[in-house]
Amino acid sequence: MPESFISELKARNPLEQVAGRYVSFKRSGSNLVACCPFHSERTPSFTLYSPGDHFHCFGCGAGGDVITFVMRIENLDYMSAVEYLADMAGMRMPETGDRGERRADKNRFYEMNKKAARYFHEKLLSPDGRQALSYLTERGVTPEMIRHFGLGYAGNDFEALTGFLMREGFSGEEMKTGFLCGISERTKRPYDYFRGRVMFPIIDTTGKVCAFGGRIIGNGVPKYLNSSDTPVFKKSRTLFALNFARASAQERLILCEGYMDVIALHGAGFTNAVATLGTAITPDQARLMRKYTQNVVVCYDSDDAGKAAAKRAIGILKEADVSVKVLSLKGAKDPDEFIKNYGRGAFEKALTSATGHIDYIFNDTLAGYNMESPEDRLSFAKDICRVLSGVESDLEKEVYLGKVTQLTGIDTGVLRRELARRTKKNEKETKLKRTENDIRTLIGYGDRVNPEKIKYPAACSKEEGIIGVLLMHPEYMGDDSVKECVRPDDFVTAFNRKAVTEIRRIYSELSEKAGGAGGDGGFDFSYLNETMTPEEVGALMKMRVAREELADNGPGVLRELADSLAEEKRKAGSSGVSSASELAERLRDLKEGRSRRGAAETEK
Ligand code: GTP
Ligand code: MN
Repeated sequence: MPESFISELKARNPLEQVAGRYVSFKRSGSNLVACCPFHSERTPSFTLYSPGDHFHCFGCGAGGDVITFVMRIENLDYMSAVEYLADMAGMRMPETGDRGERRADKNRFYEMNKKAARYFHEKLLSPDGRQALSYLTERGVTPEMIRHFGLGYAGNDFEALTGFLMREGFSGEEMKTGFLCGISERTKRPYDYFRGRVMFPIIDTTGKVCAFGGRIIGNGVPKYLNSSDTPVFKKSRTLFALNFARASAQERLILCEGYMDVIALHGAGFTNAVATLGTAITPDQARLMRKYTQNVVVCYDSDDAGKAAAKRAIGILKEADVSVKVLSLKGAKDPDEFIKNYGRGAFEKALTSATGHIDYIFNDTLAGYNMESPEDRLSFAKDICRVLSGVESDLEKEVYLGKVTQLTGIDTGVLRRELARRTKKNEKETKLKRTENDIRTLIGYGDRVNPEKIKYPAACSKEEGIIGVLLMHPEYMGDDSVKECVRPDDFVTAFNRKAVTEIRRIYSELSEKAGGAGGDGGFDFSYLNETMTPEEVGALMKMRVAREELADNGPGVLRELADSLAEEKRKAGSSGVSSASELAERLRDLKEGRSRRGAAETEK
């Protein structure tokens, strides 16, 4: 990517504006702050630094520039994020060599999927697809819905799709990677993966076919076959029919378990229904929904498995800050059957009477106890207090405590005291958990980006200081004395060594292009996104932000840091661990933290 292109791209897509589509900023001093879109929080720690080209979240460690932001929030790789922003700003992508190829790679999988979807669809409408078509028709799927969802049919043949795609110029290797075929061990030939199935193309929010689900016609196992992850598909971050549902999502989204449920609902006019792809809902999917709406109605199967899944879904959706209602269907095993038995009016009614998630759990808990038994009444009251201790609104708590009194005869005042005790205990536990997390991060446990931090805390802090200063002042790299003393070879931890090497490489490539003239060489943080993950970029941004808070970040500081790093490196070389006593001390702290928690637990 030419430097002029990246700088124009960034100028035309101010971070404040791009991020502002996902969060609402408040001013705090010279910076802007918001609740972080990458983790769930109530007090804002997502900070956008003036002059507004970089961000950092103190809560979860996310950080970077506008490209990192888009990579994370839209779940895109570097090139796709650049394309996305170029598209926003109405800029044409420049022609590039090898990177263009990588993009072409993805396009090739999309192309292959599109061809496969068309092939399956035509098959369904051809004489070969008669049985499949009547299967769908009998299940109440209209021709209109078949067209709308692009449903298809994969015949029983082992070489139908593969033969077709080979003639279209796709290789067995490509089809295998795209999860459309397997390769026979014996003949080494590709064979169709989906056979004898009704096919559901899965379409991403940009309208491209990214994967397939296939249902066996009639009985058989497995009932459904779904694509695994491919270069264009991540199951845990994709929802069936979100490509349609996003348009009417604002008021709410309806979350179902099955493809057939979604199709029945869309057919009945509920175009805001989506489903996961044969797995339980993931935090990524919950955040994806949160991008489009604040309200989700969970509408799972009415059997025990469905109920248990609904409870888990509530937790995951609450975590993503979505308000959740639950629709329990009476007289049908799933939404598909419900619509067929009772029609759209009945579903509409059920939807308006969907209960809030506390109500749902309340009733579900109640159903598990026999209110005639004093023991059960007591357990029920305790269970509900545990649930209510996670509720913020006092008003809501009072309503439910009143209900518990009615059901159990236990005095509301007594219940209130029990609840207060629970709540206090919860708070204590969260606080302890937070401190423990802090300590773990401090000593490098749980630092996934740089796992060596725990082994070399002293060296690591010097390394981070150096990287932080370099990111603030890339122009120092033009200074010969700096170049001489900041040597990647001196870096003890692999991640920081890779980072400083990258920073130097980017700087020298850019200054070479600029004609070797000194200056800052046009160093741009953005290029780090090319070779590092958003998580890694976040870690680097944290190093920069930490330095920005300090007064002195001159070249002299850089030389001092480099000198003491070289010293640490010598120590590390001789003893294996840079500071064994320091490590022992920190581990002791951690242990004490644990035993303190143990004490807190016996205390209550
Ligand atoms: P119908 O029986 O056709 O009505 O299916 P459904 O859409 O109602 O699905 P069901 O409630 O049985 O299962 C919910 C979802 O789980 C399906 O849409 C599939 O995505 C997934 N699923 C069901 N059975 C299987 C299976 O055997 N394997 C896998 N991988 N996924 C399955
Ligand atoms: Mn079903």
